[in-house]
Amino acid sequence: MPTTADDHPAGTTNGPGRDPVVEAHGIYKTFPGVVANADVDLRLERGEVHALLGENGAGKSTLASVLTGLYQPDAGEIRLDGRPVVLRSPREALAHGIGMVHQHFKLVKRFTVAENVALGDRTQPILMSAPDVHRSVVELSERYGLPVRPDAVVGDLTVGEQQRVEIVKTLYRGVDVLLLDEPTSVLTPQETEALFDTVRAMAADGKAVVFISHKLHEVLSIADTITVMRDGGIAGNVDAADTSVRELAQLMVGREVMMEAPGGDGQAGEVVLELDDVSVDERSRRGRLDQLSMTVRAGEVVGIAGVSGNGQRPLAEVAAGLIEPDRGRVRVNGRDVTGRPRAARKAGLSYVPEDRIGTGLASSLSVAENLQLTRAHRPLLDRGRWSTDARRLMEEFDIRAPGPSTTTSSLSGGNIQKVLLARELAADPDVIVAASPTRGLDVGAIEFVRQLLAQRREQGCGVLLISEDLDEIRALSDRILVLYEGRIVHECAAEDSDVTELGLAMAGAGS
Ligand SMILES: Nc1ncnc2c1ncn2[C@@H]1O[C@H](COP(=O)(O)OP(=O)(O)O)[C@@H](O)[C@H]1O
Ligand SMILES: [Mg+2]
Repeated sequence: MPTTADDHPAGTTNGPGRDPVVEAHGIYKTFPGVVANADVDLRLERGEVHALLGENGAGKSTLASVLTGLYQPDAGEIRLDGRPVVLRSPREALAHGIGMVHQHFKLVKRFTVAENVALGDRTQPILMSAPDVHRSVVELSERYGLPVRPDAVVGDLTVGEQQRVEIVKTLYRGVDVLLLDEPTSVLTPQETEALFDTVRAMAADGKAVVFISHKLHEVLSIADTITVMRDGGIAGNVDAADTSVRELAQLMVGREVMMEAPGGDGQAGEVVLELDDVSVDERSRRGRLDQLSMTVRAGEVVGIAGVSGNGQRPLAEVAAGLIEPDRGRVRVNGRDVTGRPRAARKAGLSYVPEDRIGTGLASSLSVAENLQLTRAHRPLLDRGRWSTDARRLMEEFDIRAPGPSTTTSSLSGGNIQKVLLARELAADPDVIVAASPTRGLDVGAIEFVRQLLAQRREQGCGVLLISEDLDEIRALSDRILVLYEGRIVHECAAEDSDVTELGLAMAGAGS
């Protein structure tokens, strides 16, 4: 629903009409060895939701930091209501009505909501009394749909609630321009919907809201205007009403992309992976599993949905045999491999861990060496074979590296993940445990990884896909299980999955 300034009461400073409230002109910002922003122009108007869309590393956060006084640009100019300004600090930006909610919150956990809101506020000539702050918090939270209790201790709040406190805090300071950096990355679908309502309410109130995201669908559903960044520059600026997921994806990566993985016939076969009544104690630093049982069959993708920290890590590690659970057994192709990673591998399991460098690959080794790593127990092949093998896999898996002897750490994130997948899939597994396999990758690599998993499933492989990206889970899975506090609290076929229901389960409702 596009809003226009005419729907709103006249702005307090500039009168009606869509005057730009903030403009960035020719912004350059470099870090040692990186051009983070190159000749960036941006124009924000009152009453609009302006999305800043781009892949990881495109320069979105840098631009936001320049607009909020955290970074000084190397070149270029910022104008407020047409007048050039220099924003030397976030405090100065706030004084001009520009505020930001960062990806990582900056709240004091042992203080109450009201104390956090009042904290560091020097705009008030005299300290406001506690009841006044409370009243303001309640007013703002009602006006913008941000349910928070002023006397709650921040450390007791969920991540979603803490985000609301951050937003209330900037609103309390009277911002006209609010930048939200990847705000939905920590939210459930319901919380995301609630945030969207807040964003719309702020825009309807005449504020300019900058919504930073790398998620195409999300941007399309909330923004009026979309500016796409790529490699530090502006790749395009479009009206949300006249664009599509396809066009946006193309602007993001600079070429045609295919977003959906091919579906299969949904014929699942024998059980290839079984977790039987597995518990991992809470005291382990990895998180907890609570008497969890599940299976993965040949030719099916089982997606594990859930908010981060609900047992994803121990689930992946127990399934791969890497950690021994406190109770319960793990079987691969019927063989008991509990706590024995080599045995799991031998029985037909491949593991694509979340930490690609470290658990997955050794960063100081070459691509060829990493491709051989898990086969070290085989009779040693001669080096010539390694390199021929590596070249073949590099081609098959589209690994862009100068050669097999290139050090793995010098590759991009997408290519590192391809090396890992190449090694794991070359073992021709019957079951793949993949933990956040596309996290942090660019759209091109995401597409490639998803295709690979879908292809293996078609060939009869079972896949346990653990991902915090619900869209990914829904796009790739046959069956979806929701993990909450170490237990499976919901199960459904992907084709009848309902986002609301999944989101409720992810938030622990009804469990
Ligand atoms: N403080 C910093 N020091 C060095 N490099 C940085 C810093 N901040 C960002 N970069 C680099 O600048 C580029 C753009 O990053 P960023 O603005 O964070 O992108 P985005 O928010 O779109 O993911 C990336 O290559 C990143 O590694
Ligand atoms: Mg960022």
